[in-house]
Amino acid sequence: MKALILSGGSGTRLRPLTYSQQKQLIPIANKPVLFYAIEDVIEAGADEIGIILGPNKDQVIDSVRSRSWGVPIEFIYQGDPKGLAHTILIAEKFLDDDFVMYLGDNILRDGIVRHEERFRNLKSDASVLLTRVEDPQRFGVADLNPDGSIRMLVEKPKVPPSNYALVGVYFFKPLIIDACKAIKPSWRGELEITDAIQWLIEQGYKVDASFVEGWWKDTGKPEDIFEANRLILDDISTKNEGQINESHVMGRVVIEKGTLIERSVIKGPCVIGACSVISDSYIGPYTSVGDGCRISGTEVEDSIIMDDSTISKAGKVVESLIGRNVRVQKGLTLPKGNRLIVGDNSDISL
Ligand code: G1P
Repeated sequence: MKALILSGGSGTRLRPLTYSQQKQLIPIANKPVLFYAIEDVIEAGADEIGIILGPNKDQVIDSVRSRSWGVPIEFIYQGDPKGLAHTILIAEKFLDDDFVMYLGDNILRDGIVRHEERFRNLKSDASVLLTRVEDPQRFGVADLNPDGSIRMLVEKPKVPPSNYALVGVYFFKPLIIDACKAIKPSWRGELEITDAIQWLIEQGYKVDASFVEGWWKDTGKPEDIFEANRLILDDISTKNEGQINESHVMGRVVIEKGTLIERSVIKGPCVIGACSVISDSYIGPYTSVGDGCRISGTEVEDSIIMDDSTISKAGKVVESLIGRNVRVQKGLTLPKGNRLIVGDNSDISL
């Protein structure tokens, strides 16, 4: 089996972070979302991976190449995002075998091994992963036949036919390429994968639904990223490779190499990356601090702080998503007041 992982798109709902950073590289518990997808497809037996690239293609290539994965990875540039079905056409040459298509901003607790086995055993023409959600309007939604097979798929319906959302993982045979060639762009000008799957159903092919039981998150919006961070941190095991002086560390906490914790309280679950310094601070539950960060005289909880950022005497920081190389500090000069140098589409609560 091959795997096609999508790591393009402009990530508009995550601006300003996505002006400088591809959304699939945003770290969840200090690991890019995309890496969870790569690990899942390898675990499910993918022997070759194609990664679809968008605007920040070099960043994605560098980041993926910073690790050795043990399977060949081919990078395929999409250019302008013209829909999920369009990525299949772009990757046509690569897709000469059965494959799993995995949206690189999705994260699933239990991986996809069980779903791959089901696809192989049932010998269906396509299989889509579904899960029950409270807000189906935000997703592709499936209308099911009484036998559990799929009758119809609709993308982001105003009146959803069910509460079963399409998780961003699909198993296909190369036949899906014909479907992507047969469909026309939707009202939003994109070749929709839901239309291509619908074409298979209408031609009489067998499209199966495989239900996800553990949690699943599409990390398209900040609140989804916080939730994914909490869910992943709930499962971490303690590891300490740093140095701890005059501090109190409680619960499950990961502290990477070269990090110094001094005169601080750390309460897990949380992760603190390599070569960071935490002094006179409180790092509370559900916090991920990246590599090379400096946090002093500050309380942080339920937040993601990316690499090389400095936070100093900033009071209490909660539910915050802080990018790379950011500086947050108490103002020391007059006039007093909040001094902000903030990019477009930022979101600040004082
Ligand atoms: C895409 C798909 C949608 C699916 C979702 C899952 O939507 O078009 O059918 O439910 O991924 O993550 P997007 O996140 O691009 O809006």
